[in-house]
Amino acid sequence: MATRAEDFPDEAVDVCIRTMTYADLQQVMAVELSAYPHPWTVGIFRDCIRVGYNCWVATLQDRIIGYGIVMLAADEAHVLNLCVSPDYQRRGVGREMLQHLTRRAQLSDIDMILLEVRRSNQAAIDLYHDEGFHELGVRKNYYPADEGREDAIILARYLPKIDPGSDPGISPQIPTNN
Ligand SMILES: CC(C)(COP(=O)(O)OP(=O)(O)OC[C@H]1O[C@@H](n2cnc3c(N)ncnc32)[C@H](O)[C@@H]1OP(=O)(O)O)[C@@H](O)C(=O)NCCC(=O)NCCS
Repeated sequence: MATRAEDFPDEAVDVCIRTMTYADLQQVMAVELSAYPHPWTVGIFRDCIRVGYNCWVATLQDRIIGYGIVMLAADEAHVLNLCVSPDYQRRGVGREMLQHLTRRAQLSDIDMILLEVRRSNQAAIDLYHDEGFHELGVRKNYYPADEGREDAIILARYLPKIDPGSDPGISPQIPTNN
């Protein structure tokens, strides 16, 4: 049975978050194309899985409605993509995925999580500020835009150390995708 946004009239939806696999890429691309004016190609997602970035999907009744991709490098986690299907936006899914990515980074002993966001993307900027991110700087002309290029704001959040044993629900080892 297809999952439709109108079948979930309540504001919040209760998603499962699991590792992204190659088999998910058709659904992931459908969300990507619907959510971004300048979407990634399927090849970029494939490469992210292949090189072992942390790639997660949020599912609702087995249908993918969001995803997050993080590259871990030394003591930093870099969020490369965070996206929720427009049909399911503003129901807490983006926040839940961001908190999941952050928690996973903390469990890997990461000190800082950072990302770039378009200067014009106020919805995402509000989410990141709400989750404790602050501005580190600007990358001029970082993104393609309908006319010319657009600046990226670099946002970061420093992560306090946590005891992996304090969260029995999450293994301290972040699985790689292959
Ligand atoms: C940014 C994005 C991931 C947020 O996901 P979401 O599931 O819609 O967000 P949530 O429902 O978890 O909202 C969390 C907070 O984000 C902010 N927010 C989200 N959508 C917003 C909007 N349209 N306008 C203003 N603030 C918004 C609010 O602070 C919100 O908290 P609140 O609902 O308590 O006010 C989603 O809008 C998206 O996928 N956009 C397209 C892709 C994208 O731009 N990704 C970010 C790349 S850096």
